[in-house]
Amino acid sequence: MNIQWYPGHMTKAKRAMKEDIRLIDLIIELVDARVPLASRNPDIDELGKGKARLILLNKSDMASEQQNEAWMSWFRKQGFHVVKINARTGAGLKQINAVVQEACREKIERDRRRGIINRPVRAMVVGIPNVGKSTFINSFAGKACTKTGNKPGVTKGNQWIRLNKSLELLDTPGILWPRFEDQQVGLLLAFIGSINDEILNREELAVELLRFLRKYYPETLKERYPDDGKDDLGSRGEDGALTELERIARLRGCLMKGGEPDISRAALLVIDDFRSGKLGRITLEFPPEER
Ligand code: G4P
Repeated sequence: MNIQWYPGHMTKAKRAMKEDIRLIDLIIELVDARVPLASRNPDIDELGKGKARLILLNKSDMASEQQNEAWMSWFRKQGFHVVKINARTGAGLKQINAVVQEACREKIERDRRRGIINRPVRAMVVGIPNVGKSTFINSFAGKACTKTGNKPGVTKGNQWIRLNKSLELLDTPGILWPRFEDQQVGLLLAFIGSINDEILNREELAVELLRFLRKYYPETLKERYPDDGKDDLGSRGEDGALTELERIARLRGCLMKGGEPDISRAALLVIDDFRSGKLGRITLEFPPEER
């Protein structure tokens, strides 16, 4: 992924999204279950005012199950409908249709009162890059879908995918920009590999990740990088993470020619262990009221 957002680009994207949103009843917003807030766009609530809202907690297979539940109830408290999914395997997708109907109940009722029956709900999928929009559309729409022709008012090139009698999707997902100007958000997005690793150098990134894991997932850390007894993980202060990277380098045989620990390789290994799920299911952000 290598999208650069410039102010002009963002203004244009925002304008285009505003146009598209006028055509729909429901916004289906994908967030990454590991970082459900950092992976949201700052303007989407404003842009989506008056529309029904559905949040899909995607990549839920990579996040802690307990935290997935906590996030679902948090989002519900904020007035969103929520479904936890894995767009890759299709887990959770079956629930979506019923939740869409529930989310759009008012609109369906309004239509009915006006004598409009069975008009499909029109929805649009939005999310920041890499959150899984294309994977979701492919698995959700599948092969069964039929593309309807261009309709008046739809941005040229945009088409609707008719999913079933009651739901149509705009066939191009809306790409939103993250709150990248926020350092903490940038860090979280860098952990999951959603933005260029150059935001921080690799070692700093690994050090920050280890610091977080030591605080919230100490057991996971001990399990993956077992202590050889020479080193007391528990007694380290806040700044023990770099030393820890050295320890991991030795543990995993990441050594330079002279036998010195290769910190850079160890950093890559830790980041890769996290991103590939080898460290297990880890959520990096907690619902605001929980902690
Ligand atoms: P985008 O359109 O929003 O930019 O995202 P896209 O669908 O391209 O997905 C980005 C990456 O996230 C892809 O991996 C995709 O397979 C993965 N992904 C999407 N949903 C899920 C999910 O629920 N769980 C997991 N574990 N992964 C998910 P990739 O490595 O970039 O591509 P590929 O190797 O899968 O083709």
